[in-house]
Amino acid sequence: MDLRPLDIRPDSSVVVLTGAGISAESGIATFRDSGGLWEQHDVRQVATPEGFAANPDLVWRFYSERRRQARTVEPNAGHFAMAALERFLAARGRFTLVTQNVDGLHQRAGSRRILPVHGSLYRTRCANVDCENGSKSWDDESLHLDGAPHCHKCGGLLRPDIVWFGEYLDPAIESAAREAIADCDLFLAVGTSGAVWPVAGYVEIALARGALTVLVNLERPENVSRFSEVHLGKAAELLPLLLPGA
Ligand code: APR
Ligand code: ZN
Repeated sequence: MDLRPLDIRPDSSVVVLTGAGISAESGIATFRDSGGLWEQHDVRQVATPEGFAANPDLVWRFYSERRRQARTVEPNAGHFAMAALERFLAARGRFTLVTQNVDGLHQRAGSRRILPVHGSLYRTRCANVDCENGSKSWDDESLHLDGAPHCHKCGGLLRPDIVWFGEYLDPAIESAAREAIADCDLFLAVGTSGAVWPVAGYVEIALARGALTVLVNLERPENVSRFSEVHLGKAAELLPLLLPGA
């Protein structure tokens, strides 16, 4: 495969956006591919505030199963290539990893400069907006298969610290992502269908900046035309060939 490595120098400014596709080769189902999570589950029941209000036990079973499964798999060569790129740029460049993934595999592969725009499977917070815990979240690996947990402070329901459909992203995380993209030379999207906003619009910020926009994806996503370079294939195979430091 005559693949030319991307032109990334030690002083480059790079933002990478990842989606479920980068974890596919670790064995974690994506959302919209055939057999994906949104084929197996009704997204309105398990990934919306209304679904949580209607049946919190079901939502906690869904996320507990994803917590359990993500601990049984390992990061793949695509995740490790991301961490190697971060190290390659550490001295004189700038690197930001914006991930929609909540599975923790980038963290386990050694990536550090991560903006988790859709939250984390391994963090929990109180669902009661009036709780003195406020919107603070905390590390939580526990499984709640027999019922939703309750808050020690207010007695209200606890929820996974995940951004559900119809909810806003954490404002601090979102503005950090927009700032990094508005300042990059290269915007690399990996393993994402470009179906979910506002993240699907991040490539427009890179284009407005005049950055090179590159896509690595198994298939052509909805917003493929927004990328000046497109590499179709598996992230775990392509990223080590495309990125320095891997
Ligand atoms: N390598 C590269 N790309 C892959 C691979 C692979 N091995 N396998 C699948 N893909 C691609 C698919 O072609 C698809 O375009 O990854 C993309 C996955 O798309 P989605 O399943 O829609 O996942 P994602 O884009 O991350 O979804 C965004 O939607 O449901 C919400 O909050 C959830 O963060 C998620 C958001
Ligand atoms: Zn509370």
